[in-house]
Amino acid sequence: MENTNNNASFFNTVINHQMQNRPVGDSMNDNDSNIQISHLNVSINNNHILKDINLVIPDNKITCIIGPSGCGKSTLLKSINRLIDDVDNSVVTGEIILEGENIYGKNTELTHIRKKMGLLSQRPTPLPMSIYDNVAFGCRIHGIHGRKKLNAIVEENLRNADLWDEVKDRLHNSASSLSVGQQQRLCLARGLAVEPRFILGDESTSALDPISSRNIENLFLRLKDKYGIVLVTHTLRQALRIADHVIFIYLGEIIEVGSAEEVFKNPQHELTKQYLSGAFS
Ligand SMILES: Nc1ncnc2c1ncn2[C@@H]1O[C@H](COP(=O)(O)OP(=O)(O)O)[C@@H](O)[C@H]1O
Ligand SMILES: [Mg+2]
Repeated sequence: MENTNNNASFFNTVINHQMQNRPVGDSMNDNDSNIQISHLNVSINNNHILKDINLVIPDNKITCIIGPSGCGKSTLLKSINRLIDDVDNSVVTGEIILEGENIYGKNTELTHIRKKMGLLSQRPTPLPMSIYDNVAFGCRIHGIHGRKKLNAIVEENLRNADLWDEVKDRLHNSASSLSVGQQQRLCLARGLAVEPRFILGDESTSALDPISSRNIENLFLRLKDKYGIVLVTHTLRQALRIADHVIFIYLGEIIEVGSAEEVFKNPQHELTKQYLSGAFS
């Protein structure tokens, strides 16, 4: 018990420290580009994993999904870009509406949905080709082939991912020659090149060293002006540093949702308080 109290005061100190000097204010913008999730239920192998999820995920903000291991964070993220379709024996019911379209609608085309949702995985997944071709890959699939146009797209997106200066003289080298941190920025550039609406990250800095992690966090902070960003965060500290909006999940249910300010400083639910105090993880 004493240990929990110590943890609680430690986390309160960290929370207060991290929340200071952060830009705050989280009026949920009522726009068509928010992701609206209604009555989402997901079962895998007849296990009910996500239970009646109702949420609005705002555009132009960083939303962090937090909760203990196994609570359903990755499943929620996979439901948003329909990667859940690739999970054997998964059944999804409910609606996820983006830009007026139910992504689970009968006529919804998968490539089109995935294009709107750039996914950054836990480990960088560069394609076995050059730096240049990695960024151009999605554009070529979507029918852009002109050399001049591709050159411009490659440069712009490498700049947006803060990688251009490091690779501009070796664009035709293999992507595997890059460091892990650079590879993750390359994957971000590849995702951005197809003009997504949202960027999704599943513990996307967990394989990186602290400096590379901060680079990616800073990129997210910069990119939120143009995209909605949804991150499953592997550490509370990361959520404290960058979240505008927080979703706390426990055993497949949404326990608490709100601005980072509200959830971290004044959690309403006992489970959220315990989780934030480090009582379980
Ligand atoms: N491919 C799968 N097959 C079977 N069970 C799965 C699969 N993916 C996830 N689950 C189960 O769904 C639950 C939530 O998993 P997950 O979404 O990965 O949690 P988190 O990301 O919060 O750690 C867990 O009980 C996990 O075992
Ligand atoms: Mg996970």
